[in-house]
Amino acid sequence: MKTKQIAVIASGRGSNFQAIIDAIHTGTVPATCAALITDNPNAYAIERAKGAQIPVIVLDYASFASKTEYEHALLAAMHRVNPALFVLAGYMRIVGKEIVDAFSGRMINIHPALLPAFTGLHAQRQAIQYGVKVAGCTVHFVDDSLDGGPVICQRCVPVLDDDDEDALAERILAHEHQCLPDAIRLFCEDRLTIDGRKVRIR
Ligand code: GRF
Repeated sequence: MKTKQIAVIASGRGSNFQAIIDAIHTGTVPATCAALITDNPNAYAIERAKGAQIPVIVLDYASFASKTEYEHALLAAMHRVNPALFVLAGYMRIVGKEIVDAFSGRMINIHPALLPAFTGLHAQRQAIQYGVKVAGCTVHFVDDSLDGGPVICQRCVPVLDDDDEDALAERILAHEHQCLPDAIRLFCEDRLTIDGRKVRIR
């Protein structure tokens, strides 16, 4: 299988990014990672990229005069890297419409909830507060809605009676680390087709 180029966009700790790096190294995901793009100069994801010799592009959000200027710089950086697939792995900002349109069908995101439940920030806290018995994670294509694009894969975990937000987040995270590389592998193997709201997996 010919490898595809991917690039990762992340804002923080980067444990999902590490899961991708590891899956590429073991050959589970037939890809090379062309770049890490981050909006946060202090993101631990940068150390992970350095450890794997992956080029890093830092676009410090705080250094831009407006969200519009930041998004223009991000769009330009994305065009420069121009991989087959962008992976949002803990990217903590909403992607603007111009970027979504430019990379439609080529950008995926991991969300720590069973979408369409609990979109946006603090999904695990929302799940605890709602009192659901099952939670999980979703990998989906990015469209211009909040966490609303076509779903590629989901995994569920139980919510236990004495779970707090951190305990649930940790249980979900272990599944994110499998679900996200799985989705990238399917994309890189040309096995995903978007058919309206549905993602068909060959
Ligand atoms: C993950 O739970 C991801 O689903 C959410 O933010 C968290 C990022 O974790 N969007 P990490 O940076 O990958 O460790």
